[in-house]
Amino acid sequence: MTLKKLIYKRILPSCLKPHHQPEKPLPNPKTLQVSKPPSSPRLSLCDVRCPGSPISVALSNLSNSLVGSNLHIFTHKELQLITQDFSMSNYLGEGGFGTVYKGFIDDKIKPGLLKEQSVAVKVLDLDGSQGHREWMAEVIFLGQLKHPHLVNLIGYCCEDENRLLVYEYMEQGNLETKLFKGYSATLPWLTRLKIAVGVAKGLAFLHEEEQPVIYRDFKASNVLLDLDYNAKLSDFGLATDGPQGEETHITTRVMGTHGYAAPEYITTGHLTTMSDVYSFGVVLLELLTGRRSMDKSRPSREQNLVAWARPLLKDPHKLDNIVMDPRLEGQYSTEAARKAATLAYQCLSHHPTCRPTMTTVVKTLEPLLNLKDIPVGPFVYVVPSEAKDESDVHKVADVENRANCGNKEEEEEEEEEKKERVHHRTIRVRGTDVVLCY
Ligand SMILES: Nc1ncnc2c1ncn2[C@@H]1O[C@H](COP(=O)(O)OP(=O)(O)OP(=O)(O)O)[C@@H](O)[C@H]1O
Ligand SMILES: [Mg+2]
Repeated sequence: MTLKKLIYKRILPSCLKPHHQPEKPLPNPKTLQVSKPPSSPRLSLCDVRCPGSPISVALSNLSNSLVGSNLHIFTHKELQLITQDFSMSNYLGEGGFGTVYKGFIDDKIKPGLLKEQSVAVKVLDLDGSQGHREWMAEVIFLGQLKHPHLVNLIGYCCEDENRLLVYEYMEQGNLETKLFKGYSATLPWLTRLKIAVGVAKGLAFLHEEEQPVIYRDFKASNVLLDLDYNAKLSDFGLATDGPQGEETHITTRVMGTHGYAAPEYITTGHLTTMSDVYSFGVVLLELLTGRRSMDKSRPSREQNLVAWARPLLKDPHKLDNIVMDPRLEGQYSTEAARKAATLAYQCLSHHPTCRPTMTTVVKTLEPLLNLKDIPVGPFVYVVPSEAKDESDVHKVADVENRANCGNKEEEEEEEEEKKERVHHRTIRVRGTDVVLCY
């Protein structure tokens, strides 16, 4: 985690005190059964959170009410086994909630109930900045909301003071690392666009729920990527139920991350789904520019990405020459980049009502994936074989730009293309007459 949270406070500090024992013993580890008909309204955080009440009330409500979510309850012992006793060799990272470890569920852990799979186990740091409220929010929201662009919560552990969460394992880690850490290869344009579309769909899903959910902590480190770069939202610790009925907003203590939180939320505490749209605009800008939302290592007027980039977004010349990530080396569709930049501009409006909804964002972004007017990158001139006319020069387009983007079919096609290219490259006339051109 590189950015500071706006507020670090436990909402239910009493919850973690060890003397509060659950009134009823926790249910045995098993898949919970449905107690609510699927059509009944989603359980909200307020339904189980009773400020001032001991944790026992919230927990007994939770275990009784969260049924149907297919969540598994793990014992601490099981999670020790899964993560090889929380071994540092399984360490994935650390955030405000605590440490995250990779684990593996084999067929001995929950025979017949859970398939063998890799998982990520998040352990609440009892001395850390977050607490039971965040843990509970994860269980309540991710236990009930299932969508291809939300990380799947497999289960949880709530034993004594231990609070752990078990998620599907996301092979490519988080977007922040992929985009900004030097040791990762540059993400190609279409992969960036695919990620933006994915998370936009995740947010649109949350906002369109009958009881809308405001995610509140949208940022690059909370976007996780699977093997095929499908993007999923993680970390629902700060998520909250949105305004209902006549209400236009809810007022909360300001929580979130510097550089991503919407200006009206920071100044007034007024929270709407449009606050998420602003944060989405910041991440879209990060994808376009390859720059962090806050970067103290840059000259002072460039440190705040939105302040620096937003005025430049509508000028096509400045967009191409100043704003777009130089590591893309111009390999993007100019038309798609312009449309995405205009969309980012709108999402980053200071007036929440001028921002598009996430549904509109999806409708605008998704068609851009089909704009393939991407200049070819490095290509190869190959001197033809003896059998052919020696004056022939073959240009072989670099297909790397599409790597990681597609489904299996595309990957297979790409493999074929690569094989073909290797074949071309090995054709020689005079020793090593292969010229790489950029
Ligand atoms: N399901 C998962 N699969 C793979 N890696 C994960 C998973 N969940 C989290 N991680 C990794 O664990 C690390 C810590 O994640 P975590 O969400 O706790 O912190 P963060 O997002 O960096 O900070 P913050 O507390 O501000 O959200 C990150 O590097 C993240 O990529
Ligand atoms: Mg996170």
